[in-house]
Amino acid sequence: MRKINRTVSVAPMMDCTDRHDRFFMRLMSKNVMLYTEMVATKSAIHGDRKKILGFRDDEKPLALQVGGSDKKELSEVAKIAEDLGYDEINLNLGCPSKKVQKNSFGACLMKEPSLVSECIHEMSKSCSIPVTAKTRIGFDDTEDFDYLNNFIAQIKNAGCKTIILHARKAILKGLTPKQNLNIPKLNYHMVYDIKNKNPDLEIIINGGITNIEDINLHLNKCDGVMIGRAIYQNPYFLTDIEKNIFKNTNVPTRSEVAKETLKYLEEEVKLGTKVNHVMRHTVGLYHGQVGSREWKRYLSDNMMARDSDFQKAKHIITIIQNNEKSNQAIA
Ligand SMILES: Cc1cc2nc3c(=O)[nH]c(=O)nc-3n(C[C@H](O)[C@H](O)[C@H](O)COP(=O)(O)O)c2cc1C
Repeated sequence: MRKINRTVSVAPMMDCTDRHDRFFMRLMSKNVMLYTEMVATKSAIHGDRKKILGFRDDEKPLALQVGGSDKKELSEVAKIAEDLGYDEINLNLGCPSKKVQKNSFGACLMKEPSLVSECIHEMSKSCSIPVTAKTRIGFDDTEDFDYLNNFIAQIKNAGCKTIILHARKAILKGLTPKQNLNIPKLNYHMVYDIKNKNPDLEIIINGGITNIEDINLHLNKCDGVMIGRAIYQNPYFLTDIEKNIFKNTNVPTRSEVAKETLKYLEEEVKLGTKVNHVMRHTVGLYHGQVGSREWKRYLSDNMMARDSDFQKAKHIITIIQNNEKSNQAIA
């Protein structure tokens, strides 16, 4: 089995990290690890597999994130993931949404270490790709090193060697999923302490990481970092990560990325994909740049069209590209 490089991963994000977004991100980074949105076991088993689980080879390395708590279903999904060519299967133990709790998966499983360890054990038995877990540092009133460390020990003994820790606890009642990403305080030291106590585990730290300096600080303490919102809002940050973390200087310009995305869009539209399903992920491409407003305006005027006016999009990119060039000349 090829060793997966998890130095930097893009976090699984519902309604964000779908296959179009993953294609788009891969234009800017070949080295980050990518995750799907969370897929419930029942959808993975009974749903339209091509639509829900399909991906292109150039999205790899890619992990399927699954949500569930039925060990039979989870082991079936682990096998499906391996058969489809995913590089990893990741169990969601961190989502606090009401719907997810109602179905007994996500963060509420932090209360049930034995059930989680049975699930991981069954998943590990049914596939040979790595079974990993993404969890929080605590829940409700429980933000306690011994509790977390015991939870992690059980997961480890069941066959999980890589754990992604979102460095804030989940509040299971009273906060919306969005508030649960901001209100509980970040506690990076809890993650570092877990790594120190479990040097044999690969510990990936997640939550609030937004720049190269932070990435480097965390990489001194943990094995990898996972970044969500900072990349979705400013996807070109991926090229900084390529240059500074992976030492790859061969990165495309924003306009090259936009042009490649349009080529992909043309292919996808022919296959029946709606324009906005691809282009909505590109809203932040020119984040902080001259031209950002034109790009966003173009997208908001054209994204809902059945067939985008690709010539007009190319024209906008050329104008922005000229701006980029004159900015460089001024600088
Ligand atoms: C829109 C959105 C959707 C998310 N969906 C998922 C998900 O499907 N599975 C998951 O484990 N975490 C999900 N998360 C949490 C992220 O994976 C990540 O843990 C969180 O955003 C903290 O990282 P960040 O501060 O770098 O964004 C989601 C977050 C956002 C903003």
